[in-house]
Amino acid sequence: MSAPAAREEARERDAADALSGFRARFAIPCGARGEPLVYLCGHSLGLLPLAARELVGEELDDWARLGVEGHERARRPWLSYHENLTTGLAALTGAHPGEVIAMNSLTVNLHLMLASFYRPERRRTRILMEAGAFSSDRHAVASQIAWRGLDPESTLIELAPRAGEDTLRAEAIEDCLRESGEQIALVLWPGVQFRTGQAFDLARIARAAHAAGSLVGFDLAHSIGNLPLTLHASDADFAVWCSYKYLNGGPGAIGGCFLHQRHSDAQPRDRHGGALPGVRLAGWWGHEEPTRFLMEPQFRASAGVSAWQISNPAVLAAAPLIASLRIFEESGIGNLRAKSVALTDYLDRLIRPLQPRVHIITPPSGAQRGCQLSLRIAGGAARGRHVFDALSGRGMVCDWRSPDIIRVAPVPLYNRFEDVWLFAAALAEALAGAP
Ligand SMILES: Cc1ncc(COP(=O)(O)O)c(C=O)c1O
Repeated sequence: MSAPAAREEARERDAADALSGFRARFAIPCGARGEPLVYLCGHSLGLLPLAARELVGEELDDWARLGVEGHERARRPWLSYHENLTTGLAALTGAHPGEVIAMNSLTVNLHLMLASFYRPERRRTRILMEAGAFSSDRHAVASQIAWRGLDPESTLIELAPRAGEDTLRAEAIEDCLRESGEQIALVLWPGVQFRTGQAFDLARIARAAHAAGSLVGFDLAHSIGNLPLTLHASDADFAVWCSYKYLNGGPGAIGGCFLHQRHSDAQPRDRHGGALPGVRLAGWWGHEEPTRFLMEPQFRASAGVSAWQISNPAVLAAAPLIASLRIFEESGIGNLRAKSVALTDYLDRLIRPLQPRVHIITPPSGAQRGCQLSLRIAGGAARGRHVFDALSGRGMVCDWRSPDIIRVAPVPLYNRFEDVWLFAAALAEALAGAP
């Protein structure tokens, strides 16, 4: 197909897209001459939902108007602010409302979950995770192991793809759990791998972990808002996420946490310390709301995962997320996923003819990826970097991940088929001009 004909196809697909109107509800960044950039970086930082300005403004107004009384009298009282996010987060994660909470940030929530659920005992001391995990997860896990007086290097099992392969085979996790399961206390796994874009079957991993007698937690930084999730039914023990990527919560937005109901039910409500694993680290915001301000030394836990809250929530870091979750509720994660598969398949189809000058390392099937494609440019990292810079010069916003990957993510809420076409055309030009 000639280039103009292909662009026409992209425009026709945009015209037929029932979700295309949502793009106008986001701020699309512009280049130096005021032209809208082709923003394909929602895997790193999602775009501003325009309604977020109003929501943040309302919190500032209520603070100005009410001072401390805003805790109870703001239009969304700050005392229970996190509850504004519960329904939306439960819908996106496939959880009961009592199993999800907006709080802290991803790595802090991971530490809280590891404190409760990583319980090395006798021979079962090890943590299984992926080799090449996001650095913060690796640091959290290694430091939790060291904090318990164990050696991180010999206690961690880091599973790598087979030699010559970029992504992990699902059976590799099961094989490892079958072989070494009695030593593994906990499995920590990503829903979507940040560098390769590979998506994993969380229910399958949870089944294998539980069959081996291990607990399992998931890092959903690149999954939430990207793929529909079914955490309760998948029987995950816990999960953590950030809200600044596909959830469009803004830089440093409040993070989130899922804890399966069976674990919160197993803990006593009226004291610290209960059945292992699962003992909470506590703060006043985990204390039940009706008696919190009696400030008594005796702890009485809130219901569900909200008992794991430590501090009062960052209202200004949560307000934009309310705006974004409303958009998710309106558009529907099922509809978004259907468009996302079509967008990413289209990107894949346009890039494949550029092989072998570029290699898509993300798995080819929709079931094994979210919206992101990860590209490796033939000829080494320096050449890859040159192509990446050329793409940036052509108004493409994607990102570079060390050592040699360009990540590109068409996001169904605000990207068009035409954006995908423009990116593929820019990539072809950048490759042609590469040294
Ligand atoms: C996969 C993954 N895990 C963890 C983090 C760290 O998140 P935070 O800084 O919110 O703790 C990120 C941040 O981008 C991430 O992509």
